[in-house]
Amino acid sequence: MNPPTQPATAVHPALAPSMAYHLITFGCQMNEADSQLMAGLLDQAGWCPVTSVENADLVVINTCAVREKPEQKVYSLLGELRRHKQRRPAATIVVTGCMAQGAGRKLLKRAPHVDAVLGTRCFHHIVEAVDRSRSGEKGIVITDLHDDPAAPRCGPGMERERAPLRAFVPIILGCTNFCSYCIVPYVRGAEASRPQEEVVREVEALVRAGTREVTLLGQNVLAWGRDLPARPGFEALLTFVARVEGLWRLRFLTSHPRDVTPGLIEAMRDLGAACEHIHLPIQAGTDRLLQEMNRGYTTDQYRAVVDQLRAAIPGISITTDIMVGFPGETEEDCEKSLKLYERIEFDAAFTFAYSPRPGTAATQMLDQVPRKTALARLQGVIELQNRITCERNSREVGNLAQVLVEGRAEKGDGLLCGRTRRNKQVVFPGDRDLTGSLTQVRLTRAHLWGFSGQVVA
Ligand code: SAH
Ligand code: SF4
Ligand code: F3S
Repeated sequence: MNPPTQPATAVHPALAPSMAYHLITFGCQMNEADSQLMAGLLDQAGWCPVTSVENADLVVINTCAVREKPEQKVYSLLGELRRHKQRRPAATIVVTGCMAQGAGRKLLKRAPHVDAVLGTRCFHHIVEAVDRSRSGEKGIVITDLHDDPAAPRCGPGMERERAPLRAFVPIILGCTNFCSYCIVPYVRGAEASRPQEEVVREVEALVRAGTREVTLLGQNVLAWGRDLPARPGFEALLTFVARVEGLWRLRFLTSHPRDVTPGLIEAMRDLGAACEHIHLPIQAGTDRLLQEMNRGYTTDQYRAVVDQLRAAIPGISITTDIMVGFPGETEEDCEKSLKLYERIEFDAAFTFAYSPRPGTAATQMLDQVPRKTALARLQGVIELQNRITCERNSREVGNLAQVLVEGRAEKGDGLLCGRTRRNKQVVFPGDRDLTGSLTQVRLTRAHLWGFSGQVVA
C-alpha cells in the first residue's frame, strides 16, 4: 500500500496562523521517536511546526514519568501554559507520553486547561484528538494500553522525501520486567514486538530517504521476538536489518544484561554495520541490591557478560545506568559498588538518585534512604565515573576514528561534530560539505564529553 504523498507543509505560520504547533519532548529516545511520529502526522494534516509556544495554536507535551523531576517540570510548564491559553483562548493543549498514561483523567483535574490526554499507545490519535477538541469537545482522554496494539509505529508518512542522518526505530513496545523501582511497565504496558518485516521495511524506507545510522529501540530491546509466533531472537532481527543496503551503522538500546547471549555477541562481532557499543545498565553493584531491584542477574554474571563482550569485540565501548539511594542501600553497599564500577571501567554512565514512583514495589520497602544521603552518594559515583571516562578517553588520543559527520558543532566557529562507531562525540575543524559522510579523524585531545580531532587527508 502506498502511503499518502501529501508533502510536509512548508507554509509559513504567518500564512496559516491557526495551524501552528509546538511540540515539547521529555524523557527517553522512545519518546523522541513517538514525538517524531506525532510531528509527521501533524505535518501531514496541514499543521506547521513553530519554535516557540508563544505562536502556537497547538501545544503538545510528550511527558516522562520515570522520576519525580521530569514530572514536576511538566506541571510547571502546564502552569505557564495556563497563561498562554488566557492570551490565546482557541489554543489547544495536548499531553501525551508516560505521565499522561499514568495520570489519565486525573491530569485534567489538576490542569483543567488541558484539552486532551493521550496515552503511550494512543498518541497516533493525535490529529483526531485535536480535531475533536477544536470542534468543542471537552476532556478528551484516550489511554487504553491494550487499544490498538498494532497501531502504526512509523505512521502513514513512512515513505518520506528526507529522513534524518541518524534515526530511531522502535522495535518493541513496553516492558514486562517489573524492576521494583520502575514505573515503565505500568505506563508503557506489556512487551509487544513489531514484526520483523515491518521493521526491515521501515529501515529500508529510512535509508532510501537518507538515513545512514539506525538505532533499534526498546526499553528491553533484547526481548524482541519473544512474543511473536515463531519466537525469533533479537540477533535474527539485527542480522536482517544489518543487511539493508546503504545502512552504515546499526545500534540498539537498551540492553538488559540478563538477555545478552553468545548469539548476540557473535552477531555484533560479525555484522559490519553493528557498532562497537552497548548500553548495559547495571543499576547497582551488590547482589543484595540487584535482587531487591528484581534485576535478574548477579554482579558476577554482569561481569561475565562484560568480559565476553570485551573478548569478542576489542575496544567495545560499554556504557551504563547507575542508581543510588535505592531503599535499604547502606554505606557498605555504596563502597562495594564503587569498587565494582572502578574494576569494570565503564566508558560512561548515566547516574540517578532513586525517586519513589507511586505504585511500584520499592515504595513499600523499608529503609528509604534520605534524599540528602542519596544526593551525596550520587556525587561520589559521578566523580568516580568522570575520572574513569577521562582516563579511558585519554587512552584513545592519537588513534584514528571513523566519524559520521552530523554537521556544525553547537559551539566553536567552523567546527564540525559527529560520533565514532563507539558512540563517542568528536569535534573538529572541517568543510561543511563533509556533513553526512564517514570521515577519518585523528583524535587529538580527550575530554569528558568526547574528543577534539583533526581530519586525516
Ligand atoms: N529500560 C532501561 C531503563 C529505562 S529508565 C533499563 O532497563 O535499563 C532509564 C534509567 O532510569 C534506568 O536505567 C534507571 O537507572 C533510571 N530509573 C528508573 N526508575 C527510576 C527511579 N524510580 N528512580 C531513579 N531512577 C530511575
Ligand atoms: Fe524499567 Fe526494568 Fe523495564 Fe528497564 S527493564 S524499563 S528499568 S522495568
Ligand atoms: Fe520516561 Fe517513559 Fe521513557 S517514563 S524514560 S519517557 S519510557
